[in-house]
Amino acid sequence: MNESSKTTLAQAEQEGKYIRKVRSFVKREGRLTKGQQAAIDKCWPAMGLEHSQGMLDFSQIFGNDNGVVLEIGFGMGKSLVEMAKNAPELNFIGIEVHRPGVGACLMEADEQQVTNLRVFEHDAVEVLADCIADGSLTTMQLFFPDPWHKKRHHKRRIVQLEFVESLRSKLKIGGVFHMATDWENYAEHMLEVMQAAPGYKNISEANNFVPRPDNRPLTKFEQRGHRLGHGVWDLMFKRTQ
Ligand SMILES: C[S@@+](CC[C@H](N)C(=O)[O-])C[C@H]1O[C@@H](n2cnc3c(N)ncnc32)[C@H](O)[C@@H]1O
Repeated sequence: MNESSKTTLAQAEQEGKYIRKVRSFVKREGRLTKGQQAAIDKCWPAMGLEHSQGMLDFSQIFGNDNGVVLEIGFGMGKSLVEMAKNAPELNFIGIEVHRPGVGACLMEADEQQVTNLRVFEHDAVEVLADCIADGSLTTMQLFFPDPWHKKRHHKRRIVQLEFVESLRSKLKIGGVFHMATDWENYAEHMLEVMQAAPGYKNISEANNFVPRPDNRPLTKFEQRGHRLGHGVWDLMFKRTQ
């Protein structure tokens, strides 16, 4: 975006005109199963977070001062629930726009009796801006974000310089941003964006990718990918300033 179009956008916003934002998702109208709906009805009061709540107070929400891991786009939530279950010394917040995914995640969390997890059903970009305090997160996770294969759709990819800058401001110094993708072109794009972003240090000594850390569960989808010979790329960057 050049300087003059930025001014025009800012002016239009000031004048209260409706601006269509480029989003990283298209809202799918998937139907909820009975089980997902029941899990939402049962678990939302204890586990649901609303964007309208504004800035979160983590110690009040979790009842402790443990580190907080935030995951964007958890899909059906299986790996997020598994991670939360395996790390009771941490707190987890998941953000997802797809309602059946939120329902599936709550169903799994209920079944596994996980108590250190809260979820938003909302756009993560807005949640980050309005609900997460600066310097408050131990880890940020972004696993298999929509790759938007076609070149003309690349602007929809969530990993952009502005986005990773806003993530950095939410991480503690020393906090880690962990991404994974099975789409090589997106992996290269992630690496390029992260290498250009100030204030991060790549955990990979070769300044590219890291092996899958043991705490990131291997999903069925990923196992299938491995069988078909697809690659998976993990990237981990630490906030240094
Ligand atoms: C390809 S799926 C991957 C899901 C999951 N992480 C996995 O590995 O199976 C990407 C997910 O990100 C969600 N998503 C995309 N943009 C988002 C946003 N801005 N806020 C919240 N969720 C988002 C989509 O709804 C979708 O479920």
